[in-house]
Amino acid sequence: MKKIALSLLAFGCAIGTAGVNASPEQDRVQMAAHYKKTIPAVKPGDYIYGALAMEKDSMAQYESIMDFPPYQAVIDHGKEIWDKPFKNGKTFSSCFPNEGKNVAGNYPMFDDKLGKVVTYEMAINQCLASNGEKEFKYGDKNTMSMVTAYSRTLSDGMKMNIKVAGTGALAAYEAGKEHFFRRRGQLNFACSTCHVDNAGNRIRSETLSMAVGHATHWPVFRGGDTLTSLQTRFQGCNKQVRAVSFENGSEEYNNLEYFLSYMSNGLPMKASVFRK
Ligand code: HEC
Repeated sequence: MKKIALSLLAFGCAIGTAGVNASPEQDRVQMAAHYKKTIPAVKPGDYIYGALAMEKDSMAQYESIMDFPPYQAVIDHGKEIWDKPFKNGKTFSSCFPNEGKNVAGNYPMFDDKLGKVVTYEMAINQCLASNGEKEFKYGDKNTMSMVTAYSRTLSDGMKMNIKVAGTGALAAYEAGKEHFFRRRGQLNFACSTCHVDNAGNRIRSETLSMAVGHATHWPVFRGGDTLTSLQTRFQGCNKQVRAVSFENGSEEYNNLEYFLSYMSNGLPMKASVFRK
């Protein structure tokens, strides 16, 4: 019963009819309660492992790969990009508080001045632009994804800490939530159809992960070598149901990431992990 209530409640908000305007925090608590009830075998602290938390063999594979990641060289290259001085002598770390340590969990954040969601990748590009450097292409494996594969590890262990305050922020959050719960594509699936209503069930050969924990560990290395950003993953999921996908860095996906990241609030981050 609960899962139906959750979807309907969200839909009610999204189309603005039900008048049940749940706050982001109410959404998060309700979402977490849903998984506690429907997937009681997985401890909430293990949601960060996604589908692996429900597959013993995959979890063992994850642990052994994480001991000696075969993709460590890519992360090391990312560090070189992060440390390489700009033409003016400054580096990325000058753009972030605490030299970029324990900051990634504050992103995406809503920037009232810009009137839009700023993702961590956008903050990287703002840093480049403000130092007179050329911006990176969102999702590009040799620049943006590579540098974030390193720099997001500087926030490993930080608890996700997304804030939604003010009307602009709330509107962006609601737009992201609407994307998440809206059915789309030839197969007429919403993100929630798979990751809420069917989380813990199998689809083809895969176990469906819960949305709580989805945002904590990006980018990932799929199959142990394919560097993949969170929004590239969104594209893959949109395509699975033959729905239109959006660009990495589009407002549509930035808002979706904002909503999805809020759902992981309080969970510890760990970037550049292995995924199947
Ligand atoms: C047809 C079912 C389906 C739909 C609809 C779907 N996904 Fe997925 N998604 C999957 C499968 C299968 C995987 C791989 C197994 C897993 O991690 O759940 C996956 C993985 C993910 C992951 C990676 C989880 C991790 O920790 O590696 C994220 C994030 C994600 N989906 C988000 C979304 C979002 C956002 C939407 C809506 C735009 C969406 N998905 C729609 C099936 C779906």
